[in-house]
Amino acid sequence: MKKQQVLNCSFSAWYPIFKHLTIDSIVIPLSKGFLEYLDADGIYLPASPTDETSDIIDEDDEDAQSRIPSFPGLEESIRTAIHNLGGRVFPKLNWSAPRDASWMACGNTLQCSCVNDIFLLLKSSDFVTHDLTSPFEHCTDCEQGPQDTLYELVLRRWCDISEATEFRVFVKNDDIIGISQRDHTNFFPDLGPLAEQIHNEIEDFHDRHIAGNFLDHDYVYDIYRQDKRKFLLIDFNPFGETTDPLLFDWEDLNDLDVTRTDSQSWETFRYVRSASGIQPSQFLSYRYPVDILHLTTGADADKLADFLRMEMQKPDQQEATSSSQEGSSNVQYEDEPEK
Ligand SMILES: Nc1ncnc2c1ncn2[C@@H]1O[C@H](COP(=O)(O)OP(=O)(O)OP(=O)(O)O)[C@@H](O)[C@H]1O
Ligand SMILES: [Mg+2]
Repeated sequence: MKKQQVLNCSFSAWYPIFKHLTIDSIVIPLSKGFLEYLDADGIYLPASPTDETSDIIDEDDEDAQSRIPSFPGLEESIRTAIHNLGGRVFPKLNWSAPRDASWMACGNTLQCSCVNDIFLLLKSSDFVTHDLTSPFEHCTDCEQGPQDTLYELVLRRWCDISEATEFRVFVKNDDIIGISQRDHTNFFPDLGPLAEQIHNEIEDFHDRHIAGNFLDHDYVYDIYRQDKRKFLLIDFNPFGETTDPLLFDWEDLNDLDVTRTDSQSWETFRYVRSASGIQPSQFLSYRYPVDILHLTTGADADKLADFLRMEMQKPDQQEATSSSQEGSSNVQYEDEPEK
């Protein structure tokens, strides 16, 4: 993969060409100061008069106070963009959305309606950090490490997208060589009966709108089938290892010779055909342990009771408990010898 292939997939490189096929978006250039803030340790969010999060920080802690970010110009541009995009947006940088950080957000979603929602997601995401620190990983023609890349915040109008009909299209020499169900961690029973029809529709969409118009001849793009023959372009990705091959693998995609007749045996349209065919999610390592989730939400009362009991059985807790309970000894714990 070459550096230019990655640059071609940067949002503002392809958006002007395919604006009519994709989701309304606003691009906001990011300053060096803001990039340093994203790179810094800890999560501090801008304070505002109506924002109670500033109360969490100790007023006497000068270090913490000095880390509260303030980017008035950027914050104003974000507020205006959110307003102009209907009040709810999906944020990303040049290439990546903070999808690994959605568990940090209220509602476990990337839907943002204020500046702090966006800052929190960007600050918490390893995918965003990857955009900032090693966007050209796997490129054979450049050094690793930060380069003179111009970074941008992309805010996209929020759309309710059903993952059941999202697809990733792999293109070599402007021809489709593979189409994969985008969410390969799920089995969608309605997909099988429509597979051939959807495959034909995507070929048609590709020939009419994409082939020959992108900045390269080898690329990958994601599309959402909103309705019969109605597609929404979501994103372009480089043709190479940085892009998740989903139900394909890069060795096969790279080796496939589209001009050879034996490629007829190649299964171009791939989807999960049964519940046993689902693949693990790449986000498994970016989640709360389920026990923590149950404890914090109170979803499992027995688990909470077990946890409290376990805490009470710790030696120091027992001491604290017994001293605080001197004089009122009618409470007993399971393993406590009878008095
Ligand atoms: N405007 C939007 N509103 C709601 N959901 C969206 C929006 N844009 C994208 N999504 C959802 O988020 C997913 C990821 O978006 P996108 O492809 O832009 O992120 P990415 O970081 O480039 O992902 P990848 O690394 O897999 O290419 C999409 O597949 C889609 O399901
Ligand atoms: Mg992408």
